[in-house]
Amino acid sequence: MKKTFLTSAMLCACMGAFAQSDMDTFISQLMVKMTLKEKIGQLNLLPAGDITTGAALDTQVGGMIAAGDLGGIFNIKGREKIEALQRIAVENTRLGIPLIVGMDVIHGYETIFPIPLALSCSWDLDAVEQSAHVAAKEASAAGINWTYSPMVDICLDARWGRISEGNGEDPYLGGLIGAAMVRGYQGDYSQPDNIMACVKHYALYGAVEAGRDYNTVDMSHLRMYNQYFPPYKAAAEAGAGSFMSSFNLVDGQHATANRWLLTDVLREQWGFDGFVTTDYASIAEMKQHGFGDLAHNSALALTAGTDMDMCAYGFLSTLEQSVNEGTVSVSDIDLACRRVLEAKYKLGLFQDPYKYCDAKREKAEMYSAANRQVARDIAAETFVLLKNDGVLPLQKKGKIALIGPLANTRDNLTGTWCVAQDPTKYRTLKEGFETALKGKAQLLYAQGSNICRDAEQQAAAEFGKTIARVDDAKAKAEALAIAQQADVIVCAMGECADYSGESSSRADLNLPDVQMELLQALVATGKPVVLLNFAGRPTVMNWESEHVPAIMNVWFGGSETPDAICDVLFGEKSPCGRLTVSMPQHVGQEPLYYNHLNTGRPVAEGAQHYQKYASNYIDVRNDALYPFGYGLTYTTFDYGQLAVEGNGRNYTATVTVTNTGSRAAHEVVQLYIHDVFASIARPVKELKGFERIYLEPGQSKTVSLPIDQSALSYYNINGELVFEPGDFDIMVGPNSANVQKVTISVK
Ligand code: NOJ
Repeated sequence: MKKTFLTSAMLCACMGAFAQSDMDTFISQLMVKMTLKEKIGQLNLLPAGDITTGAALDTQVGGMIAAGDLGGIFNIKGREKIEALQRIAVENTRLGIPLIVGMDVIHGYETIFPIPLALSCSWDLDAVEQSAHVAAKEASAAGINWTYSPMVDICLDARWGRISEGNGEDPYLGGLIGAAMVRGYQGDYSQPDNIMACVKHYALYGAVEAGRDYNTVDMSHLRMYNQYFPPYKAAAEAGAGSFMSSFNLVDGQHATANRWLLTDVLREQWGFDGFVTTDYASIAEMKQHGFGDLAHNSALALTAGTDMDMCAYGFLSTLEQSVNEGTVSVSDIDLACRRVLEAKYKLGLFQDPYKYCDAKREKAEMYSAANRQVARDIAAETFVLLKNDGVLPLQKKGKIALIGPLANTRDNLTGTWCVAQDPTKYRTLKEGFETALKGKAQLLYAQGSNICRDAEQQAAAEFGKTIARVDDAKAKAEALAIAQQADVIVCAMGECADYSGESSSRADLNLPDVQMELLQALVATGKPVVLLNFAGRPTVMNWESEHVPAIMNVWFGGSETPDAICDVLFGEKSPCGRLTVSMPQHVGQEPLYYNHLNTGRPVAEGAQHYQKYASNYIDVRNDALYPFGYGLTYTTFDYGQLAVEGNGRNYTATVTVTNTGSRAAHEVVQLYIHDVFASIARPVKELKGFERIYLEPGQSKTVSLPIDQSALSYYNINGELVFEPGDFDIMVGPNSANVQKVTISVK
């Protein structure tokens, strides 16, 4: 079928970075030609069958594309398959409108980067942006032009499995990271490796009650605006092309059908001009929440500001009828259709529908040496050294025992959401050690235990399944036997990859008991023990922090984890990660976060024991075991006297930091503020700036951190930024629990 609507002048207009007026003209001219059915087809999004990321659907996408019933597809892997479907859209439909092709490229495509939570611990915005760009390079070479990332949901509760997919508990840092990801994916859309970002899950998904996935959310507007919205806003302001609505309720309405959220706040207050897709089958799920039938819910969602329906068939099967019945207007459909077409235009798909299907690029880009090197370097930046009695860095000599259920697995080190990974290409930690130690030290290995005692629980986690089930007693005895021969023991323990991520909430944040027993037995040998803790969330590590000589939180570092761990463990690089989540002493403290409000009955500063009639627990102290911002390295830093200077409006906090140890390393100098008196209660501390510096031994650097009026402001209940003069505590230090304070009076 030949297309007639593209004139050469219009084609020029949609090349590369675009002009708004050219786009408007092009789309208006195209929409004049579209039937109502074709417009509704553009609003329909379905998986193309390769990967399942929700309830399985039996979709016959080829036929639906040809019928003009699909505007986009997702969950399909491989350029060739995508090209074939794109050809149907372009050549076998009346108007030849190309498909938008999505995928959950969350932390890399085939070269996998650390999980987002880990990445955030790098506090390195350039690295974050670069990781997104490399992911886009690979994904775009494989036919993908739209990624369901960044996820910028603030999460304060480590039980929620999806904490692994976000950037931690801080709204300011979360916003900077979200914006960096958007830049990394999208660029200016002019290049074939610029793909569209989809900011998710709008909004508040990270606040599900009790950390149980898909659970209820209920919160004040003040809290939304000040604590949860900033990262979505920052990503929108960075120019994100699309948003995904969340599964949860906001003010008792489904986020997908909440006009205040999708139109008043997102579009009118923040100026977002892209399109909004639902999450997987959200419109269908509204029925379970108690909001009527599919037609009713589809109409609600569309008129609220949702443009695309993922997997519910709601728009496709009901909107035409709703127009006839008058519950939806053609202009509602036009608006949504226009937004979806604009996204395709921005991506350059009208100019070249096969822009993202380049066999040569696919071959050259995929898991290339260059991409792997970037992933290795970035992974090394995300490890957080929690404790070191001097065991680390290890020397490559003598006998090193590597023990634990995560030591010899290929697909668990990448973590959750690696839909395009190819673990056959990745190495195990054991293989990484073998390479690093070759000819220098002897490596001993034992699995030592199962990932958890319960075989059923292990099997429930996709990647846990690939770890051998062993007889625990026998495996422990084997591990102890090799431990006896070793000079040092490295334990590769923790969660398997699918213990975090979607639908992977946990009520227990401890190391699984079978691994804990093994760890205790290994520590009891009296040999130096290093714990590498693999986790997609904060782990409770009280016993470990008291008894294990060195603990490094390695999260899930991606496909290059083994080499990155060796780089840091053996001292080629110094650890530089800093926590972006508070590590609790007990799961009962959750939700635990540093930037909380005060109570009328706070515990006395420095209190070591329970206090009656104060806000605390009988059986555990309030503070984190390891606080937000915390992380050690192989050297020490000295902070000079904090000075704060300003002109009554703008201020600068200045401190000189000196590397007082014998190794070069990074330090993250952190700035916090506290509004002492305000019209609404303000957090005890809020991160408002930081600088990541690198110091050679003996070297000093004076760090100046700016504080402008917006940093001292807050959002009122209407989402307006308000500044109130008065006293502010300005705090600077290496982490949120260790700061120097100066109080300023701002007029
Ligand atoms: C459901 C998840 O909540 C969302 O994050 C993901 O992008 C979609 N499924 C598509 O896979």
